[in-house]
Amino acid sequence: MISQQSIQEIQSRIDIIDVVGSFVKLKKRGTNYLGLCPFHNEKTPSFTVSPGKEIYKCFGCGKSGNTIGFVMEHEKYSYVEALRWLANRYNVVLEETDTSPEYKAQQQTADSLYIINQFAQGFFSEQLFDTDEGQTIALSYLRERGFRDDIIRKFQLGYNPSARDSFTQTALAKQYNPELLVKSGLVANREGSMYDNYRGRIIFPIHNQSGKVMGFGARVIKSNDKAPKYINTPENEIYVKSRILYGSYFARTAIDKADECLLVEGYTDVISLHQAGIENVVASGGTSLTTDQLRLIKKYSNNLTIIYDGDSAGVKAALRGLDLALDEGLNVRLVLIPDGEDPDSYVRLVGAQAFNEFIQKEKKDFILFQLQVSLQEAGNDSVKKSQVVNQVAESISRINRAEDFTRRQDYIKQVSGMLKVEEAGFTNLVNTIIRDRISREENRQRQKQEPEPATDSVEQSTPESQAGTQLLNAYEKHEQAIIRCLIEYGLKPWNDQMTVAQYIFQELEEAPDDYSENIANPVHLKILQLYKIWYHDGLEPNYQSFSYSEDPEISQAVVNLAVIDQDISPNWKKHYEGYIPTREDLYRDEVRSTIAYLKLRNIHRQMEENQSEMEKSTDIDQQMISLKVHALLKQKELEILEMIKVGTVIFK
Ligand code: CTP
Ligand code: MN
Repeated sequence: MISQQSIQEIQSRIDIIDVVGSFVKLKKRGTNYLGLCPFHNEKTPSFTVSPGKEIYKCFGCGKSGNTIGFVMEHEKYSYVEALRWLANRYNVVLEETDTSPEYKAQQQTADSLYIINQFAQGFFSEQLFDTDEGQTIALSYLRERGFRDDIIRKFQLGYNPSARDSFTQTALAKQYNPELLVKSGLVANREGSMYDNYRGRIIFPIHNQSGKVMGFGARVIKSNDKAPKYINTPENEIYVKSRILYGSYFARTAIDKADECLLVEGYTDVISLHQAGIENVVASGGTSLTTDQLRLIKKYSNNLTIIYDGDSAGVKAALRGLDLALDEGLNVRLVLIPDGEDPDSYVRLVGAQAFNEFIQKEKKDFILFQLQVSLQEAGNDSVKKSQVVNQVAESISRINRAEDFTRRQDYIKQVSGMLKVEEAGFTNLVNTIIRDRISREENRQRQKQEPEPATDSVEQSTPESQAGTQLLNAYEKHEQAIIRCLIEYGLKPWNDQMTVAQYIFQELEEAPDDYSENIANPVHLKILQLYKIWYHDGLEPNYQSFSYSEDPEISQAVVNLAVIDQDISPNWKKHYEGYIPTREDLYRDEVRSTIAYLKLRNIHRQMEENQSEMEKSTDIDQQMISLKVHALLKQKELEILEMIKVGTVIFK
């Protein structure tokens, strides 16, 4: 764990323009900076950075965050990795707390393994390019296969000589620790005698997200029945097989740009496609996909296209990963390369353009692909057919996040067409599976005795509650506006007696510290309460206080609601001679109308509730009361409308 002091020190030294500016060319525009968004393809800049609020926002793709968030997003780092990167840049010495001796030892081993691998990579490259043996045996093989020298260098390929221990001897002479050499998998130890593990093999270094070598794949040159085709690094502190995505370091930016990640099986497939200019590609290493790999992919893009050769065992392996991929919310498509080719040979055969066209034309939706395959297998067997129906319903039921609702409906429509079953019946089946899974999960939660908040995914998956969330979103917009006023203008004077913050609290509180009538969103409530505490402690809360909050929900909510002003349009300037009022000048109007709209919304909600009660009730007295309530609410509504009229400008 990194200590809180260190985190604060980093935060105080961060300069968002400096950090973002080292990845994006920024131009000053008014109080903000503008550039081409690094997260999507654009020709006119809509990526805006506010030094005052320490926030970036892209008006094109909607990505936003603080400085740490930018480093995380751009470099695909975890929070801690981003902090380490920033600490390094701003010369902050990180204090680590709570580190157990075991953890420290593990970190040290990891660091040493990286150093050994880096040394080994250099050694193998040198052997490949600068020795007779390397050139005649290995480099010639790679060139014959059609790999260009620049691509061999880019992927840092190498060669381990065929002598018994040339790497081992060199490493030992350089004082590398024998135990760690064995742990790295580069060196084997048989009864005290140490020798090279990858003798006579081509070396494919495997890089982590930031380009450091985690391990190696070592391929035989001449096929030999006895020797395995590849020897890979054994699991150790830095090489964890289930997390390896070969090529991800080189594919990152291309995946971002294409918003699509191509997945192939082999190292050579990745390298060939790169050579052909198709760079958004990673390899799984031929085993079935793991959750960790899928999460990694999802960091880059939601669109995963799996490219395998038709007869490979890899297809089956990939299909096994299907449910996992859907759980992760990925859009998975599948392409089979025809006629016994693999991506490596196929791109050489047809060229980059035809390859790309083939992928885009042939990629099939994963669920429909699976259905097609199983339907063929089932033939006329009705028992098997009903198994297929259940299996597909199970797959579709995994597309279960609220935002995926339309996607799921689309599937249900298409699939019930293909299966020739009633759409309504099939929808029911899918919903039943979802409900069963949720109640199973709830039971499990309850057994764990953890008082988790109840999930409402079943509710969310019905169209009615979809409409409900959209309504809520409109409410939330109003709430956001309030919080925005509070953070932006809270410390400014409202009138002679109070600040804007005091005015807002006074207006929102039905009773002391009770905002529940006016603020529905729990994160917004948390922000209000935090603001109040800080304010009363004499602190001066601003965007940074919240955006660097330890609670990621708070941080994201505040970043989302922050408005970064864009330039005033030239048309405006034409209409106004001289001084143009800014939001800053008109802050009182903005606060007033925002509060008023929020209150109006609540009055309307109460009116509706009252109305429906009145309609339901058969009791005359009750109806009279409702009528009186209605009159009161109407009166309040008028007052608020009056208040809105007083303001000159209304911001929404
Ligand atoms: N693989 C492995 N161990 C093996 C065979 C394969 O780890 N014994 C993994 C490697 O990651 C390999 C991938 O599975 O890259 C695909 O295997 P394959 O197609 O046989 O190898 P390629 O790397 O494609 O090599 P080539 O094109 O030279 O056949
Ligand atoms: Mn292959």
